[in-house]
Amino acid sequence: MHFSLYLLTFFYLRSRATAEWCYQSQTCDDTCKDPSRWAALFPRCGGLRQSPINIVTNKVHFSSALPPFSFIGHADLINITVENKGHSAHFALPLSVRLTGGALPGHYRAAQFHFHWGGSGRPGSEHTLDGERFPMELHIVHIKEPYSSLEEAEHDMAGIALLAFLFEETIDDHPHLDTIIAALGQVQNNGSSTVIPNFRLSYIIPAAKELHSYYRYVGSMTTPGCEQAVAWTVFHRMLPISSRQLDAIVKQCRFWTGQPMTDIFRPTQPLDGRVVLSSKSGTAQKTVIHMWFNVFSVLLMQMILIHII
Ligand SMILES: *[C@@H]1O[C@H](CO)[C@@H](O)[C@H](O)[C@H]1NC(C)=O
Ligand SMILES: *[C@@H]1O[C@H](CO)[C@@H](O)[C@H](O)[C@H]1NC(C)=O
Ligand SMILES: [Zn+2]
Repeated sequence: MHFSLYLLTFFYLRSRATAEWCYQSQTCDDTCKDPSRWAALFPRCGGLRQSPINIVTNKVHFSSALPPFSFIGHADLINITVENKGHSAHFALPLSVRLTGGALPGHYRAAQFHFHWGGSGRPGSEHTLDGERFPMELHIVHIKEPYSSLEEAEHDMAGIALLAFLFEETIDDHPHLDTIIAALGQVQNNGSSTVIPNFRLSYIIPAAKELHSYYRYVGSMTTPGCEQAVAWTVFHRMLPISSRQLDAIVKQCRFWTGQPMTDIFRPTQPLDGRVVLSSKSGTAQKTVIHMWFNVFSVLLMQMILIHII
């Protein structure tokens, strides 16, 4: 009797332990599922509109119907709570940080931002451009109003707006990333948290008027449950990070398993017939040639966004 109870407990705990997802870099044998096996635990991860993707720049469709964004509260002084979530660290944003424009169907409020990085010397962006992976990627997660959680927003195909910035390695330090790196050093282990006082989102991202050029496609969250509710924006403009900062940032945190938190990115997913739009054409002539096609693809995109929810 006692022995069977013990067995039951053992298998219960074991099945709970196996129900954890991890990145490819993590060696946890049978106790966690790497990206190729996420769909076994989270069926939506095997869907047809998954992220991230490789953006093939000569196959994007130029669109004149992708206006700039309006950022609200990005220059305000805010206190940011940083928490190690076991798979990455989240920087929680207050309700006052909001977003509109950018051909998004509504107003969105910011929830949090986080980074995807590689390992020492290895790039770790999630999106790739013509197959090239960049050193790091910033994601700012926004939830459409009036939804108040990911769970509510996930039933709307554009319930979540994700803004993505790729980083490029520079000689000079990024002037505000050391604050971020120091905060990550305060949240080494799963569940630990700290506060960055008096920060402005505008310390790390440029003003909206400098961000006219971007890629847009419909996709998913890049971590389980892989909710297919995301209007993705990947800005052409890259953010700077020095090699010193890059070395430092990948060394601060640990996964929930205690291993160093490195290579935290999901491999790119098939496009499966989706179209990637770009807000800006390389040449004026190209714009004219693509104009009718643009009109068509934007209409199609909006039909998809509005009707197939
Ligand atoms: C940030 O936290 C400090 C100290 O707790 C507090 O005095 C300040 O009002 C907070 N600022 C904002 C914008 O909430
Ligand atoms: C991380 O810690 C939180 C508590 O802070 C816990 O609920 C969660 O299960 C932990 N994550 C993992 C993957 O162990
Ligand atoms: Zn992300």
